[in-house]
Amino acid sequence: MKRALVAGLVVALAAGSALAWDAASDIKARQAGMKQIGGNMKGLYDTLSGDKNPAKLKEYAANIQRLSGQLPSWFPAGSGPSSGEKTKALAAVWTDPAGFKAAGDAFKTEAAKLNAAAQTGDAAKVQAAFVATRGTCKGCHDKYQAK
Ligand code: HEC
Repeated sequence: MKRALVAGLVVALAAGSALAWDAASDIKARQAGMKQIGGNMKGLYDTLSGDKNPAKLKEYAANIQRLSGQLPSWFPAGSGPSSGEKTKALAAVWTDPAGFKAAGDAFKTEAAKLNAAAQTGDAAKVQAAFVATRGTCKGCHDKYQAK
């Protein structure tokens, strides 16, 4: 009886710490993904402000579109502020799933247009699509990311 109780406790403790570890690694992966999006947006901005190299525009825009498809998977349940881990993701991500999904979809839509513009190699088109895409970052951050 006592032995079963101890065994149960050990299992419960292991499960608890696994959960905390998962939240921490989920948050790290999410922040790394966001950094990649940020790095590609910066690369695109710098290229648009610089030599406008069409190959670079295509590469950055393709990366951004690819990452926009992955973004929704970066917010598993339990990886929010209630995990006790350090994150800027607000609880609203999980309490307002429809609004959060809409913000993610807006980004995905604009990232697809951005990539399509980049494939034409027309820097003016890429510039306009870049501004629209950046607006969708702000649209989500304003509501779902802590200041
Ligand atoms: C659908 C919502 C959403 C969209 C769209 C979005 N983000 Fe984020 N972003 C977040 C949230 C939430 C965080 C906070 C993550 C955390 O701390 O766990 C974040 C964090 C970040 C960070 C900080 C990462 C770090 O080092 O902690 C950067 C940089 C970033 N986003 C860039 C961007 C850019 C650039 C775009 C648009 C091209 C974008 N994001 C689009 C929700 C979004």
